[in-house]
Amino acid sequence: MIWDYAEANPFANSSGNLIRMADLVAEVLEQSCSNGPVIGSCTQFDSTASIANEPAIICTDPPYYDNIGYADLSDFFYVWLRKSLVTIYPELFATLLVPKKQELIASPFRSNGSKSDAAAFFEAGFTKAFLRIRSSQDQMYPLTVFYAFKQEEAEEGDTGDQQVSTGWETMLEGLLRADFQVTATWPSRSERPGRSVAVGTNALASSIVLACRPRPEPAPITTRKDFLASLKKELPNALRNLQKGNIAPVDLAQAAIGPGMAVFSRYKKVLETDGSPMRVRTALALINQGLDEVLSEQESEFDPDTRWALAWFEQHQFDEGLYGEAELLATAKALSIAGLAEAGILHSRAGKVRLLRRDELPEDWDPTSDNRLTVWEVTQHLIRRLDKHGETDAGKLKARIGGMAEIARDLAYRLYTLCERKGWAEEAGYYNSLVVAWPSLSSVPELFQ
Ligand SMILES: C[S@@+](CC[C@H](N)C(=O)[O-])C[C@H]1O[C@@H](n2cnc3c(N)ncnc32)[C@H](O)[C@@H]1O
Repeated sequence: MIWDYAEANPFANSSGNLIRMADLVAEVLEQSCSNGPVIGSCTQFDSTASIANEPAIICTDPPYYDNIGYADLSDFFYVWLRKSLVTIYPELFATLLVPKKQELIASPFRSNGSKSDAAAFFEAGFTKAFLRIRSSQDQMYPLTVFYAFKQEEAEEGDTGDQQVSTGWETMLEGLLRADFQVTATWPSRSERPGRSVAVGTNALASSIVLACRPRPEPAPITTRKDFLASLKKELPNALRNLQKGNIAPVDLAQAAIGPGMAVFSRYKKVLETDGSPMRVRTALALINQGLDEVLSEQESEFDPDTRWALAWFEQHQFDEGLYGEAELLATAKALSIAGLAEAGILHSRAGKVRLLRRDELPEDWDPTSDNRLTVWEVTQHLIRRLDKHGETDAGKLKARIGGMAEIARDLAYRLYTLCERKGWAEEAGYYNSLVVAWPSLSSVPELFQ
């Protein structure tokens, strides 16, 4: 067993100390009472059994299969809290341990060891909960669903090489069965970057908030072909908007589900060519495919040198490959290996070619005197500056690059997605970090540029 995070000493001055914790709680109380006392109330109930007697505005952050055993974990604290609070909240602490039976997670331990029974319980519960929500939701307001589940955490889908998450599929199926339609998607920064699962991994930075409304009746039925045509029409703009909002590349695939599902959920059914209704799983695979297509289409804004580097990187990353192969790829793009070497993109020797690694790039590189400036170089230099010298220095470099810097950000999205698909997590992290730091690079005061 290896400890990864130790508890801090609560009486020390480090983060997590007792005084800081008390201050945080006090700050919340002050904020929530600053416009006069706001009375909040909190009730525990089973969302599959009852919700509200009058129209309510519902916002939910549902559980994901067996990701976390909330009730089991809660027992750790519950037994102590119960001792002191049972007389104050007798109903809440009526049971000796936290209630487990109604908990909406897929735990085989609660289904006589059967994984499939556990999954069935979870899936049926989701549909029940959304049907309840549908009947309780105030029609004037949308239902909002927070979802922070990464698609790649799922097992391989049955739809080619596209990863489709069972967590997303179940959640969306529950929503659609209750005749909800997705009307908007808001990625929201909800996750603390320093939390233990996020350190050193490409963990999600955002939750995706789906705004949903009851689908108007009668809802149209469409075909696979028309669904694909609408996706093609609507996804590019939606993704552009997400990128303009500087969504972290690590969140892009999840965020794309929203606009894609907005198209899918508009219809009562999307019919496959054999007349059967399209499954949510298939729609998710098609949305993922659509995202790939949009990102590849954005390649047209890159210069030919960068397009060569991208194609080479996909095959070899920064490793060596054969000169002949590199030349073939270059000729197809009307380029030469000598020219690419001159552009500061690659290293070629003894019949072998490789892309220059970031630690080989010249420290004193000046974009204003580079007469073959490429988006590839710009991106790699920005990442290197950011990594080695921090945001202020990278911001100064970005200011000297001018307009091409914005295109570098698009390349970072493209490279992140490519690395994720290839399983190059560490390399992917660099591209994600560049986009996440982007707003800070743009705000470097002119004085320092
Ligand atoms: C993803 S977590 C929500 C976390 C919360 N947003 C937060 O930041 O602390 C899902 C929650 O759903 C609760 N839950 C599980 N089954 C439930 C049920 N049948 N009815 C109501 N809540 C349930 C779990 O106890 C857990 O707190």
